Amino acid sequence: MRQKLAAGNWKMNGTSEALSDLQELAAAHATSGVDVLICPPTPLLHRAAEIVAGSAVTVGGQDCHMASSGAHTGDTSAEMLRDAGASSVILGHSERRADHGESDATVCAKADTAIKAGLIAIVCLGESLAQREAGETLDIIGAQLAGSVPAGSAGDTLVIAYEPIWAIGTGKVPTLEQIGEVHGFLRAQLVARFGTGIGGAIRLLYGGSVKPGNAAEIFAVDDVDGALVGGASLKAADFSPIITALEAA
Ligand code: 13P
Repeated sequence: MRQKLAAGNWKMNGTSEALSDLQELAAAHATSGVDVLICPPTPLLHRAAEIVAGSAVTVGGQDCHMASSGAHTGDTSAEMLRDAGASSVILGHSERRADHGESDATVCAKADTAIKAGLIAIVCLGESLAQREAGETLDIIGAQLAGSVPAGSAGDTLVIAYEPIWAIGTGKVPTLEQIGEVHGFLRAQLVARFGTGIGGAIRLLYGGSVKPGNAAEIFAVDDVDGALVGGASLKAADFSPIITALEAA
């Protein structure tokens, strides 16, 4: 049985005052039947970890370097995230792949480093609208999965987030059939590569315009083990019902 995960990605949003929303979220979810994660901007991470301590909410990073330390100005290592209180780190988000030219190999190396530092690596993948319209979705997803997931992954330290690029921040959501097709494909690929034990234990999140109003139907799709939520994770009033929907799924 896979533990479900409601993950929030604040992206480059939020200064100190955003922490009051996190406080509200942690108070509302002192305990939970699912894992709850918020990934704030790095400067807030340490204070965020202190705020959620003792609740069901944990905090994570939005990226880390593939090296464990060294001359990499402006970057953050996995060990630093862990030291600041992170449980997890998002890697290979399409915004980082686009803004920073991150390749599958880069994402794979980062995931390997993150897992070795004791973090859960949430590896993101997803097709563009042009790729979807050209019928290339499963080819693209399969290649990203093969290239971005490190060898020797274990079921509890790796999470895959399927985030179609055209659904991120747009209010557009794939049909439930389309989500089910990709998640079923991801599950089959993971089982083929890692076997039923590990491949069956890796959690699969859907991300892209998840809102309180559509969360329940998405969570009812086979092999959807939770969500990676952007905009609707910024306010406790929006994210809280998504957590509740996942608990009920
Ligand atoms: P939205 O929920 O704002 O569409 O963002 C999804 C996302 O990119 C989460 O990583």
